[in-house]
Amino acid sequence: MGKQRVLSGIQSSGKLTLGNYIGAMKNYVALQHEHDCFYMIADLHAITVPQEPAALREQSESVAALFVAAGLDPTQAAIFLQSHVSAHAELSWLMTTMTYMGELERMTQFKDKSEGKEAVGAGLFLYPSLMAADILLYNANLVPVGDDQKQHLELTRDLAGRFNYRYGETLVVPEPFIPKVGARIMSLDDASKKMSKSNPNVGSFISLLDSPDEIRKKISRAKTDLGREIVFDVPNKPEISNLMTIYAQCSGQTLEQVQAAYEGQGYGAFKKDLAEVVVQALEPLQQKYADVRSSGEIHQILRDGAERASAVAETTLNSVKEAMGFVAKSR
Ligand code: AMP
Ligand code: TRP
Repeated sequence: MGKQRVLSGIQSSGKLTLGNYIGAMKNYVALQHEHDCFYMIADLHAITVPQEPAALREQSESVAALFVAAGLDPTQAAIFLQSHVSAHAELSWLMTTMTYMGELERMTQFKDKSEGKEAVGAGLFLYPSLMAADILLYNANLVPVGDDQKQHLELTRDLAGRFNYRYGETLVVPEPFIPKVGARIMSLDDASKKMSKSNPNVGSFISLLDSPDEIRKKISRAKTDLGREIVFDVPNKPEISNLMTIYAQCSGQTLEQVQAAYEGQGYGAFKKDLAEVVVQALEPLQQKYADVRSSGEIHQILRDGAERASAVAETTLNSVKEAMGFVAKSR
């Protein structure tokens, strides 16, 4: 594989979870040395549900600092805020005009987030067109995401193809980059739902900034299945299989190794060890996070990142506008 362009993003709508880390951020870090990477804090996506201004500002800076704390090197990867690069909002409108209502109505994330709500913002509906713009602006070949973003990626690919068909080859059709293990970390209280920072039950997710004692408490209360064996069997033992996935991803072991290590042992012993494995995996990240926040370096990192991102994004936006027939300013 030659050097590829990589883009991904995480919404700044709450605290990041272990699911974000395992499903997406670990791959951000793994890709940064081989490829040309752009990692974005999706603050424009965050406002598709109401956000309190001070909280939004704090969360956006916090997510940026977590990117660095998780091991992203800002001299390699560009780390930036979506709202700092105005081309995102602009291409989003152009992509919206190319997106069919039916395509947006089929999005499972929209159905989940709007279900049972009285006033659903139009931004929530149009969210996938903005996400397509994010990716297409950077001519990204690879998009590291968790499993739940597959459908949005598919729409992005369709939009790129539709654009190229109507207006001539302009946009790169991206590929999702999804981990084989850990693409969908489930809730600690219900393994049929994905672990999510927007779950009102805080016991259902582990935040990357939870203290060791909170992590121990949450894991000791995590739901388990009937029986007592530690075996990886998603249909029959969904809860334990999820905990084993977390164990494997945080310790660097394979699922087979985890299963072999706990043969003949019960849930209690396994959970106790799992808590320590998670605490240890998060300890260096939390330490680095505290350093990054107290140094104030994040502002310069975001300024540099936005400058690098804007240069690429503006070029693509201009090609798109030219292809669509907008009159160039310089004429
Ligand atoms: P979000 O928090 O929705 O902005 O998601 C940011 C990234 O984390 C996306 O690539 C998601 O697919 C990924 N992600 C979120 N929750 C999980 C989860 N429970 N398991 C695996 N990946 C996840
Ligand atoms: N929609 C993504 C999520 O909720 C976040 C996101 C926004 C994103 N823009 C993106 C992910 C571009 C990958 C590429 O997880």
